[in-house]
Amino acid sequence: MPNFNKKRNSYLSVFLLTLFFMPVGCVQKRLGIDNSPQYRNGMVVCAYPDAAQVGLDILKKGGNAVDAAVAVQFALAITLPEAGNIGGGGFMVYRSGTGESNTLDFREKGPAKASTDMYLDPEGNVIPDMSLYTHKASGVPGSVDGMVQAHSKYGKLKWAELVQPAIDLARNGFKITKRLAADLNRNAGQFKKLNPGKTYFIKEGEWKEGDILVQEDLAKTFEQIRDKGREGFYDGVVADQLIAEMKNGDGLISKVDLKNYHSVWRKAITGNYKGYKIITMPPPSSGGIALLQLLQSVEKYPLKRWGHNQDSTVRLIVEAERRVYADRSKYLGDPDFYKVPVDSLLKPAYITARMNNFSWNAATPSTVIQPGTFVGYESDQTTHYSIVDRDGNAASITTTLNDSFGSKIFVKGAGFLLNNEMDDFSSKPGVPNMYGLVGGKANSIQPGKRMLSSMTPTIVEKDGKLFMVVGTPGGSTIITSVFQTIINVIEFNQRMQQAVASKRFHHQWLPDEVMAETGALDSATVIKLQAKGYKITYRGGIGRVDAILKTQQGNYEGGADPRGDDTKLGW
Ligand code: GLY
Repeated sequence: MPNFNKKRNSYLSVFLLTLFFMPVGCVQKRLGIDNSPQYRNGMVVCAYPDAAQVGLDILKKGGNAVDAAVAVQFALAITLPEAGNIGGGGFMVYRSGTGESNTLDFREKGPAKASTDMYLDPEGNVIPDMSLYTHKASGVPGSVDGMVQAHSKYGKLKWAELVQPAIDLARNGFKITKRLAADLNRNAGQFKKLNPGKTYFIKEGEWKEGDILVQEDLAKTFEQIRDKGREGFYDGVVADQLIAEMKNGDGLISKVDLKNYHSVWRKAITGNYKGYKIITMPPPSSGGIALLQLLQSVEKYPLKRWGHNQDSTVRLIVEAERRVYADRSKYLGDPDFYKVPVDSLLKPAYITARMNNFSWNAATPSTVIQPGTFVGYESDQTTHYSIVDRDGNAASITTTLNDSFGSKIFVKGAGFLLNNEMDDFSSKPGVPNMYGLVGGKANSIQPGKRMLSSMTPTIVEKDGKLFMVVGTPGGSTIITSVFQTIINVIEFNQRMQQAVASKRFHHQWLPDEVMAETGALDSATVIKLQAKGYKITYRGGIGRVDAILKTQQGNYEGGADPRGDDTKLGW
């Protein structure tokens, strides 16, 4: 036998032996096999294992995607206190198995006593942290009304059946994960400072993985919601507790604000990308419009040939993002208060013109990019879950308290956290919020107005059939994470789990830098980008995408983000 054959055979033996002793999962990974389980009857992908189990149980009982969504929303309010909530708000994009789509806006609103300059000192400067860690940071919560509306329009099972799992989780407690233990420990100082007396989140010594978290006050609040529906939160004992908390902390939310809060059904905005139909959230989300603008901006370029996260791909995407976020700063706000130029922003000729000054020679500095202009225009920590059921109904829901644990202020006696969503308004034109985003008149504070959001719950259709359900938390990076996940599947043929796990990068016009997860860009790409004038900064995880893909065979395959405790379950 010639020498090279011997050598080759011995390499082969070592390789096969290595495979033999590796765990099955590693072997599959090594061979590029994605062993994501697939399911026929439905799936739930969300940010906490116990909440995913609640959703799956509801589907198995015969509940539909909206029933499961209500149960998951409430279960996350117990098990994911950083973002799951009843004290916050969110958006749902829904598509029925027969193809009708709808969206529900249960975003928080500015209280009646809110005013444009409420976070400014007498010199007109923004008072640090006032829109974040005070009772005045809270918008009027929308989550409970949203769930009631969603259930009364689309739900099948009884309301009480959907709320009960949250009561059980709160009263009996649940095991906390390592990540939640660390989050609670990290925020202990703030919880103590902002909440006189005891809260469930303060413990003698440190929290550790496997500890049981019991939340009895929250169980009682959920009993009110179970028995009285909307009135169980916006009226009666829970409302009294919330108003007492506001009075104690000099907050603005009144009984009238609670009575007047109503979520709104809005027509989805839709667009196309290479034959796929994108169904997404209209304003007051900026996410839907920005996502469609990004997709249109890159559609005519050969991303597939350039390759995933390679320099031409990254440069094109960054330049599109720079322009889209500049538009966001000027034109996006609550459509009930401000005429958002949706059609103009999405016109193909406008998008083409926006990309005209993009040059392959050098990065376009953000200082030369301003929001676009149109002829005829009149100036006028979050969590996501994706669910599909056996009839093909799909719910894509993103919900938020804004910062991790919101304002970190509990409603005494009611056991839930208040949001600090008011920071998503523009406190002063040009002054960045906690995500570095700037805004102006379109997103100025007004009583009863909804603050602009980046939440981008989205559903994608292919050939008129359900294809993908997708969304993520991540503040300003939500839009770009959803965008990258979609193109990971459509352009780079990634399976759902890989598309979700792939490393991400982000640019938002200001600051003028490409933020990348460690490992997102290889060193050759970094050198090429830097040579063209791109500043690259590194940061921890960008987004936590939870998504579901419908395969050609009609099965569901999930992507649960490995950056968190995210879990995919199906049947
Ligand atoms: N609170 C983050 C967002 O809605 O965009």
